[in-house]
Amino acid sequence: MTQDVELTRHDGVLSITLRRPGKKNAITGDMYEAMIAAFAEADRDPEIGAVLMRGSDGVFTAGNDIGDFIASAQTPTGMAAWRFVEHLASLDTPLVAAIEGLAIGIGTTLILHCDLVYAAPDAQFRMPFVDLGLVPEAGSSLLLPQRVGLARASEMLMLCESFGAEDAQRLGLVNAVVANADLYAHAAEKARMLAAKPRAAIATTRRLLRGDRPALVARMREEAQAFSRAMQSDEARQAFTSFMSRSKPAS
Ligand code: COA
Repeated sequence: MTQDVELTRHDGVLSITLRRPGKKNAITGDMYEAMIAAFAEADRDPEIGAVLMRGSDGVFTAGNDIGDFIASAQTPTGMAAWRFVEHLASLDTPLVAAIEGLAIGIGTTLILHCDLVYAAPDAQFRMPFVDLGLVPEAGSSLLLPQRVGLARASEMLMLCESFGAEDAQRLGLVNAVVANADLYAHAAEKARMLAAKPRAAIATTRRLLRGDRPALVARMREEAQAFSRAMQSDEARQAFTSFMSRSKPAS
C-alpha cells in the first residue's frame, strides 16, 4: 500500500490526505487504488459517516501523475483513475473537500462529486485537459455545465482557464472560502456534523440531490473512452514529453 495517501479516522470521519511531498501531490495509480479502498471502507463501515479529502504542504493536488499517463498509454482503459471516478459516482457516504493551493485536473473535477467544499483564499482550480491533448473526465463534461452554465464551462474546459476560490464560491462550486490556518479544522467540523446525522437519511438525501447516477456513469465511460484514445495521440504524447523534460532537465 502506498505511503502517499494517509488515512485517519476521527469522530466518524475518514480523512484521506494526499501526501506526496516534492511532487505537488500528483496522483499515481497506487494512490487511486488507496482512495478506492478508502471509499469502499467508508461505505462498508458503520462507524464512518463522512469522508474528508484534503491535500498537504499547501497543495491539494497537481492532478494525475503525468509519468503514469505515459506509462499507461498502451493500456489506458485499465487505469485505476477510471475505477476511482466511478466510485466517486456511487459513493453513499457524504464527501467533504478542503482545498488549499493548486487543484489541477482531477483535483478540480472531483469537487463536483463533493457534498461540501471549503477552499482557502489561495486555492487555484484548473482543468488543463485540452492543453494536454486530452478531454474532460470524472463526468465533468456533464456536471460542470449543469453547475456553472455552458458558457463558463466552455471557458474552463476548452480555454482551460483557471479560477480562484472566490470565483469558485460565486459559481456555487465551493461552500465557503476559509483562511488557510482554519481550513482543515473548519472542513473537519462540517464533516463531523454530517457524520453525526442519521446515516440512511443522509445517504438517501445525497443520492436524491445528485440525481441520475446511471446517466453520470454512462457519461464517465464515454469520457474514459475518448480520454484513452486521446492519450495515444501525438498531441498528448508531445504535451506529456514536454512536461517531463521541463520538470527533469538533463543534467
Ligand atoms: N505529474 C507528475 N509530476 C508532477 C506533476 C504531475 N501532474 N505535477 C508536478 N509534478 C512534479 C514535477 O515534475 C516536479 O518534480 P521534480 O522536482 O522531480 O522535477 C515536482 O512535482 C514539482 O513541480 P514543479 O513543476 O517543479 O513545480 P511548480 O511549482 O513550478 O509548478 C505545477 C507546479 C503543478 C503548476 C506544475 O508542476 C504543473 O503544471 N504540473 C502538471 C499539472 C498537470 O497538467 N496535471 C495533469 C492534469 S490532467
